[in-house]
Amino acid sequence: MTEQDFSVPLDAPKYYRPDPSYREQSWIGDYEEAYQRFIADPDGFWRERAAEIEWFEPFDRVMEWDFPYARWFLNGKLNITHNCLDRHVQKGRANKVALFWRGEQGEEKAYTYSQLLRNVSAFANALKRMGVKKGDRVCIYMPVVPEQVIAMLACARIGAVHSVVFGGFGVNALNQRIRDSGSKVVITSDVSMRRGKEIQLKPIVEEAVVNAPSVEAIIVHRRGTPMVELHSEIELDFYELLERESNYCEPESMDAEDPLFLLYTSGTTGSPKGIIHACGGYAVGTQYTTKYVLDVKEDDVYWCTADPGWITGHSYVVYGPLLNGATVFFTETTPDFPDHGIWWKLIRDYGVSIFYTAPTAIRMFMRVGEQWSDRYDLSSLRVLASVGEPLNPEAFEWFYHHIGKDRCPIVDTWWQTETGMHMITTMVGEPMRPGFAGKPIPGVVADVVDMDGRSVEAGNGGFLAIKRPWPSMLRTVYNDDERYRKYWTTLDSLYTATDLAVKGHDGNIMVIGRADDLIIVAGHNIGTAEVESALVSHEAVAEAAVIGVPDPVKGNQIKAFAILKDGYAGSDRLKSDLRYHVRMTVGPIAMPGEIEFVDSLPKTRSGKIVRRVLRAKELGMDPGDTSTLED
Ligand code: PRX
Repeated sequence: MTEQDFSVPLDAPKYYRPDPSYREQSWIGDYEEAYQRFIADPDGFWRERAAEIEWFEPFDRVMEWDFPYARWFLNGKLNITHNCLDRHVQKGRANKVALFWRGEQGEEKAYTYSQLLRNVSAFANALKRMGVKKGDRVCIYMPVVPEQVIAMLACARIGAVHSVVFGGFGVNALNQRIRDSGSKVVITSDVSMRRGKEIQLKPIVEEAVVNAPSVEAIIVHRRGTPMVELHSEIELDFYELLERESNYCEPESMDAEDPLFLLYTSGTTGSPKGIIHACGGYAVGTQYTTKYVLDVKEDDVYWCTADPGWITGHSYVVYGPLLNGATVFFTETTPDFPDHGIWWKLIRDYGVSIFYTAPTAIRMFMRVGEQWSDRYDLSSLRVLASVGEPLNPEAFEWFYHHIGKDRCPIVDTWWQTETGMHMITTMVGEPMRPGFAGKPIPGVVADVVDMDGRSVEAGNGGFLAIKRPWPSMLRTVYNDDERYRKYWTTLDSLYTATDLAVKGHDGNIMVIGRADDLIIVAGHNIGTAEVESALVSHEAVAEAAVIGVPDPVKGNQIKAFAILKDGYAGSDRLKSDLRYHVRMTVGPIAMPGEIEFVDSLPKTRSGKIVRRVLRAKELGMDPGDTSTLED
């Protein structure tokens, strides 16, 4: 959150209104009407949504709620890849492009729906032949390449639970996720491309599988030059495996409540949380929101800039758009290489009509100026969307004027790894209020509440809570159900998003930022615990604390405070050493922008570091009540 530029007048709302044709032609139609239909008959509403996908066997009840556990579409059987692939092949989309991919060097790949089905099937057969079974966990650690999507869908095809780890994570982060999930196979690429350079991923995997006894094989997608050698005992080549197999694999019939995948998200304390999503509810939730929130139509070219390694990529690069039979464009290309015009050039070249990105990217483009986007014809754009952190009004306006040309609605979607799908947004066609994400979508009951779970008056702030289960909600935290229960017991018996929010008089919700110690850097959640434990694993550091400080582009950046062990002196050399150490253990996204050496840290009497005080001091704010501090 950028505290300085996030001031929205609550009493003088300013709205942008899309052309009425947007509402008339949208899937959702009139928002209020759709919302009231949901409220009048929630089960009926979700039954209708569930009817938009195909089931091998029908479900006999929409939902069962046994606090805090919900089961959705009881006894229904389905396979999400049948819905993402076979269904479209059978219904006239066989030769429609499913994926357009573009690499950094300008290389391109396209897969029609039938080609994607054949590739996914063949790779699924290969996994099966290796002994991967329904319920086994498979770790996918890859860059943004089509093979990453093929690997995910192949797992889902046979009922294996994929655990995708973002390709920018380092050795420790990967090792921890492989061990916690007990992954049997790790699928990787030898290299990822970043601004013209090859970044080696395979050595990271080799180190990360040490002390991970569950791993039986590593599948390597080889793309670098010269071709990397494989260690024959456990390393196998991606395409050698795939090409041996037949190109049809019967989809596994999955119960609606069987796990589809697990995805780790940072926690404020301890290890990252393996969020579990279930086959049926996740399919229904992502199909529904991609269609009705992003308003995907048959002829759209859809681009979501997220990495499939994060939830946004799972739900809105892979599953949601493919469930809708859309044409998905995606790329490994960063927004600034070879220059700041590349993304706008890609929108023009591929005729992208729906563009879904993050505030941090928008703020970066704002800073370099619209001369880059002005060079390209962006008239193919129809809908713009944002996710990951608050879209501050300045960034909203820049995006609206310079990219959307005062014509395209901006759909600011609030949701989380845990929610699986969009929860709060302004629907296409509805008046947009900069600074506010919007209202709960039909299907979702959200509110801003106080610490006891009581609804706050309009115009006030509090905690963002969800009051009714939804199909794509997390089912548990892998190996740690206690942490799951906490989501439902912190604010009375509501789901707590752990976000702070303000309720506008018009029903719109402004999300302000995290209420805990997670730091959102460039839209990525970073757990303070992960960075701090990386710092103290360095020989020079006795104790460490990290906080988020506002950054004009990334929203926040990490500032670290470190107490050195006796015999070590603080120096610039040591600072860069520590930054490098965090980079190698957790990953580049977690690297502190600033490090300060200190003699002590503010702590409670029980020894817990109070980051709030560090942060207040750093920002020149009032630290609040400090009476419980040790010193
Ligand atoms: O703080 C909120 C912020 O991102 C958090 C969820 O992060 P993650 O699980 O990594 O998922 C990110 C993509 C869904 C939330 O608790 N956040 C996400 N979207 C928004 C947002 N904050 C404000 N506005 C948004 N549109």
